[in-house]
Amino acid sequence: MTPAELVSVIRTIPDFPKPGIVFRDITTLIANGPALSATIAHLAALAGRIGVETIAAVEARGFIIGAALANQLCCGLIPLRKPGKLPVPTVGVDYSLEYGTARLELDPGMMRPGQRVLLVDDLIATGGTALAGLELLRGTGASVDHALFVVDLPDLGGADALRHAGVEVASLMSFP
Ligand code: PRP
Ligand code: HPA
Repeated sequence: MTPAELVSVIRTIPDFPKPGIVFRDITTLIANGPALSATIAHLAALAGRIGVETIAAVEARGFIIGAALANQLCCGLIPLRKPGKLPVPTVGVDYSLEYGTARLELDPGMMRPGQRVLLVDDLIATGGTALAGLELLRGTGASVDHALFVVDLPDLGGADALRHAGVEVASLMSFP
């Protein structure tokens, strides 16, 4: 399936999780074997040009995409976790997203200065989540120059904000 064909596999739910939000839902994509396989193949083709040592992926939906991509690339995955999940001292960042506030945490002991990390998530909207992940990773001395998403919502400005922070951003599809 091409990225254009994958667009039709994403489900759109109006007024979720709050009135006024048009929610692009990847549940229907990850439940569809050929669509999930094509998604990971397209992301792997993009990642193959980059020279990635490690993927960092965002809980929860980012883990699904990130883990499948890490498996395809034969690299490891660093989890960027929601609060209180990691059993060791963490570094954390609070952030805002389209429908609320949240916090991401990272085990700095998983990181090595200069490590080339590819940031992966299912979707970028305001960019609050990705920028928080970037801050956490760069705070450990990691090198994060690239980020990959399945879906971009460009009107919410996240991809541009990430580019402004010096990250090359690619996605398979965008919904205006
Ligand atoms: C969603 C999505 C991204 C983030 C994008 O996750 O999976 O991580 O929002 O929004 P942003 O660009 O405005 O930050 P959510 O926090 O809803 O968590 P989930 O993956 O646990 O459903
Ligand atoms: N879909 C999924 N996650 C999101 C969205 C959306 O439309 N907006 C912000 N996070």
